Amino acid sequence: MGKALTNHKSKYDDTSFEIPTEGLTDEQRTLCLEVFKNYIDVQKNHCLGYQVNQRMDYKEDVEFFLNCHVNNVGDPFINGNYTLSSKQMEKAVLNYYAKLWNAKVPHEPQDMESFWGYVLSMGSTEGNFYGLWNARDYLAGRKLVADEVQEKFRHTSYLHPKYIENKPHAYKPVAFFSQDTHYSIIKALRVLNIPTFSEIGHTDYPGQNPLDTDGNWLNNKEVPSIYGSSGPGSIDVDKLAILVEFFAERNYPIIICCNYGSTFKGAYDDVEEIQNKLMPIFEKYGLVNRDVNYIDLDEEGNEIVKVDKRNGYWIHVDGALGASYMPFIEMAYKKKLINQRGPIFDFRLPIVNSIVMSGHKWPGAPCPCGIFMTKVKYQLFPPADPEYIASPDTTFAGSRNGFSPIIMWNHLAKHSYDTQMQQALYCEELTRYAEDQLNTVKDCHPNIELFIERTPLALTIRFRKPIKPIINKYSLSCESLKVHGDVRHYVHIYIMPSTSKEIIDKLVDELKQDGTFENDGVSMLLDERSSQMDVLIK
Ligand SMILES: Cc1ncc(COP(=O)(O)O)c(C=O)c1O
Repeated sequence: MGKALTNHKSKYDDTSFEIPTEGLTDEQRTLCLEVFKNYIDVQKNHCLGYQVNQRMDYKEDVEFFLNCHVNNVGDPFINGNYTLSSKQMEKAVLNYYAKLWNAKVPHEPQDMESFWGYVLSMGSTEGNFYGLWNARDYLAGRKLVADEVQEKFRHTSYLHPKYIENKPHAYKPVAFFSQDTHYSIIKALRVLNIPTFSEIGHTDYPGQNPLDTDGNWLNNKEVPSIYGSSGPGSIDVDKLAILVEFFAERNYPIIICCNYGSTFKGAYDDVEEIQNKLMPIFEKYGLVNRDVNYIDLDEEGNEIVKVDKRNGYWIHVDGALGASYMPFIEMAYKKKLINQRGPIFDFRLPIVNSIVMSGHKWPGAPCPCGIFMTKVKYQLFPPADPEYIASPDTTFAGSRNGFSPIIMWNHLAKHSYDTQMQQALYCEELTRYAEDQLNTVKDCHPNIELFIERTPLALTIRFRKPIKPIINKYSLSCESLKVHGDVRHYVHIYIMPSTSKEIIDKLVDELKQDGTFENDGVSMLLDERSSQMDVLIK
């Protein structure tokens, strides 16, 4: 009998699924799957800590595709030689989100204002990578698809703009993002070698940080959020403007990553206010429609200077959760079904260059997926032109998950705008309920500050970190924040369409027990409590 089976008799742990060289028998394998299924089933029904919708009914509709390799390699709008693709569905999904985000539809390669995008094989992480790559190369003056369509440049596929003597930074983009930004942005900047404002400030302009009394850039590695860690989590636009002006004045092109539904607090950056405050700065320092000069060759092979017009800024909206959820809150607001809405974040704002969302968050999907979207006029010219796939290599990955577009298409086809609006209202109401219920926990722990907080219109509530068994049971995510000089350890819950009142009540009941929070003076109960909970999560 294999080790896996022996282990499962007692406990499910890291070694439970080890595969011996001879493989497992059908019986062993089935048992492993059964054990895992039970585990996932229990955890799924208790999952409160992450913004993933666990309500799904895809099985019957899509199980056929699990035994096919569907691959959307290449551009979504151009079928390649690999014919087992779901590009027709991908295009429909993209059209859906383009309309939802007020982009110009349909995608038309000749129409510079129309949208372009693709369904991600990863989630918003990939979209953030792609958006920042697009931003970097656009601002660095690299070749765009538009240049090719308009036959601006004939002889090269990877352009380098002419160095400008009195503007040495003209093609060196600098990135700005708030302290509430998802770690994927920081990782993408590192991979793409895009410096942050703080890094450039620290090395090239020491002592000149306009936000710090000592001018120290290390005190602002990110743009502050409103009221810092103790605030709601949205970016402080006034402080952003001060920082941006410092770099715009020195001719740096500007990349700004906005959050639309920040990870921990669920905060919405006010992208419209960013537009209002920053456009005058961009105008003032020549970052709107600036000339980008290149050397090209004429028919005889002589060097000639050609000019392209491009903006010197890129605004990327990381709408992992908010970009798919908040449009339905706006619809409800217009119908007077709710009395507030979030700030506008989409292509209605001319300043917006790219948007991403995760398909496994608000819609719900069995695997990570999402959307990246921009406009044709900003689209990168692909670095390579592989004849092998017969479709332009315009996306991040080569092989692309063809299953996700099927899932997303099926979901959208089954959920009308009206249904999604009702779901959004349900979640909003349930979040208010959860906040009220969490507030009742305070009475049971009168000597402990529970820090129960909710950012307006966020689907998440944060509160003091409880003991580990509760974190495990409800898959709670943790974050430590420095608030008024003290480090506070938080967790949060997210209310999604799959969340029920019952599970909130269950969590609240457990939080009311003695020994739930580590310093409530009853730590001797912890061990006893842990073993009870261990039994529960098995
Ligand atoms: C604001 C934000 N951006 C990006 C991501 C990464 O998204 P994904 O997990 O889909 O890659 C998340 C995930 O929670 C997020 O909250």
